Amino acid sequence: MNGSFGNEGGQLDEVTRAGLDADGLPAVPGHLPGPRSTIELERLRKVVYPGTSEHLVPFVIESKSEYLVNDIDGNTFVDLVSSSASVPLGAARADLIEPLTAAMERIGNEDSHGAASGFMLPLAEKLIEITPASLTRVDLGLNGTEVVETAVKMMRRATGRPIIIGFLGGYHGETSLTAALGAEEHEISRGIRPLSAGFAHVPYPNPYRSPFGPPRPGGSGDPTVDYIRDHLLFHAIDPAEVAGVVIEPILGSGGCVAPSDEFWKALTGLCREYDWLLAADEVKTGFGRSGYMFAVERWGVEPDLMCLGKAMGGGVAPIAALMGSERVLGSFDDVPTGSTWSWLPWACAASLATIEAYEREPVLANVRELERVGRERLGRIADRFEQVGEARAVGGFQALEFVRDRETRERDPELQHAVGRRAVELGILTDSSSTSLNIQPSLTMPPDRYGAALGRIERAVDDSVRELGR
Ligand SMILES: Cc1ncc(COP(=O)(O)O)c(C=O)c1O
Repeated sequence: MNGSFGNEGGQLDEVTRAGLDADGLPAVPGHLPGPRSTIELERLRKVVYPGTSEHLVPFVIESKSEYLVNDIDGNTFVDLVSSSASVPLGAARADLIEPLTAAMERIGNEDSHGAASGFMLPLAEKLIEITPASLTRVDLGLNGTEVVETAVKMMRRATGRPIIIGFLGGYHGETSLTAALGAEEHEISRGIRPLSAGFAHVPYPNPYRSPFGPPRPGGSGDPTVDYIRDHLLFHAIDPAEVAGVVIEPILGSGGCVAPSDEFWKALTGLCREYDWLLAADEVKTGFGRSGYMFAVERWGVEPDLMCLGKAMGGGVAPIAALMGSERVLGSFDDVPTGSTWSWLPWACAASLATIEAYEREPVLANVRELERVGRERLGRIADRFEQVGEARAVGGFQALEFVRDRETRERDPELQHAVGRRAVELGILTDSSSTSLNIQPSLTMPPDRYGAALGRIERAVDDSVRELGR
């Protein structure tokens, strides 16, 4: 196929000790967890915080390569999670690890807040070059959570206003501030929300689950923005107290939802009218996941701030960045930011090599193919099973949302988690999140293999619907 990475078969044979099944994917695993994984997981559960260990998949990883994961019992899985979308171009790529190790051997660690390495300037300049023109400054970060925190601090400092508007359904991290800014599921902010003030939430502009009707005549053209204007600002919040809005341009963990064109027009209009800052949290959408290098490009939106992380390190290094306009990142210097390990020289080297790979390889063309395959195969699953309320595919962000009833749209998390578990048994890793079964393949996965993996997800839906008697 034109623009594919063309590793049909060869690489699979090399890494799959289990052999291939008729669908061309690694053989369906044996009983999970396998005997060695059972012992390790049992020991882990005795020493690791249960809130973490309860989420572990039923195997222990031995190795990864491209879009495949081998466990210590000889099973091979197809990875449609990509380490929470932080491994964009396939696992453990040698061409990203080589510059990383060379930089590590030459410099080791340095706190980039104290001394610049030769990697800092080229990375900063490159990020400014590839992100929207409104973004002319960079601040250093270690991970997505950190740069979202910094974004909020900068928005308040730049405007002198306390309130930030976030979205119900959005995810921004799990520290006190980011948990309170986010609102994907209430357990993330339980006990924290009352202690971290200054956030107001409105429903994410989710076409499938909007609580609003059509936009009102004479309004903004979008019902969510009408709600902000007609209700939030009229009854509760003086717009002059609002620093701005933080939004995932496409809802990631919350289920792969893209807002409408009208929403973006209305939201950017509102921001202009009240002099609010617009911060795009592209920690998950950034670096090609949406089919664009950055998701805001899809709507031609030029934000005042952009949070980057995850895929920025090519899946081999922890690194993040806060991009900003002169107003938010260039006109004052009195807000301390960052942490010791942000922009480690070797992480910068890996990030530069990652961006070069995007420039050299047909990554975005492949993502469009993955979207085409996803629309077709997930659409077929939705046609076949009335328990699927909606199938969504935006680039390499894809999801199935399960319902008890298509009419009422009552959520069915029990079925969703059952499908996620059954998919693992069939050798496919997915992310069963708060609202949807999220599917995030490597952006370089061959589309035909991706189609085959979605075939196994269809089987998982079939098996789970029967098992639960839905
Ligand atoms: C949109 C978004 N923002 C922020 C974060 C936090 O990033 P990290 O977990 O790398 O700190 C995430 C993580 O999933 C995310 O999806």
